[in-house]
Amino acid sequence: MESTSLANYKLISFDKIPSTQTYAHELVSSGRATDRTVVLADAQSAGRGRYKRTWVSHHGNLYTSFIYRIEERNPRLSYAVAVAIAETLLPFGIRPSIKWPNDILIGGKKVCGVLIEYSKDFVIIGIGINIKTNPTVSEYKTAKLIDYADVTRDTLLANLIKSLDIWIPMDFPTVQKRWTELAAGLNKTIVHRGCSAELIGINDEGALVLRIGSEYIMTYGDEISI
Ligand code: BTN
Repeated sequence: MESTSLANYKLISFDKIPSTQTYAHELVSSGRATDRTVVLADAQSAGRGRYKRTWVSHHGNLYTSFIYRIEERNPRLSYAVAVAIAETLLPFGIRPSIKWPNDILIGGKKVCGVLIEYSKDFVIIGIGINIKTNPTVSEYKTAKLIDYADVTRDTLLANLIKSLDIWIPMDFPTVQKRWTELAAGLNKTIVHRGCSAELIGINDEGALVLRIGSEYIMTYGDEISI
């Protein structure tokens, strides 16, 4: 384990650990967490995804968890994080899109996943970005950045930190506008709970708005297929 600083963050980096996310939780639960800490690993042996999925974590990709002290939970945070990641990729000439709520896609294939969890007075934002390898998974197609641009992990992380610092404190109307510009499947038919629905966007509270026939529905927690 190595502990240094990066921008104005405390950086804790490992060659290989089970999960940066789990390690971040351990820091919080043991009272050792500080605001603006980045946990980084070259590889993970027990990477965790959303819905209790495994996040396959071979060498060559970015595996990181950001720890921030918070006053209250923010259901709109995941949009700011998604925009921050997409904005990090744009200067590399990559054209990402965001699949609700915060998967990052290239050419319709998932290149990045985000896992946001809360513990005590902290939020832990886990971000995995495929750079050199992309796993084959049954649920969706995957991509890796190296097929689109010359990206190194440390440059990506430095740029990601700058982008998170811009987008996390941003007012929600600005985030909402940018998220909508980058959204995959907007005004198209998607599948939600086995039903076809039109993806309308996100509302002011951060709910996903779908239209089925003449009925508009709001959802926070489900998955959609595009
Ligand atoms: C998803 O299912 O889309 C979210 C994947 C989140 C993976 C990252 S990799 C770094 C951090 N550590 C983990 O164990 N998970 C997150």
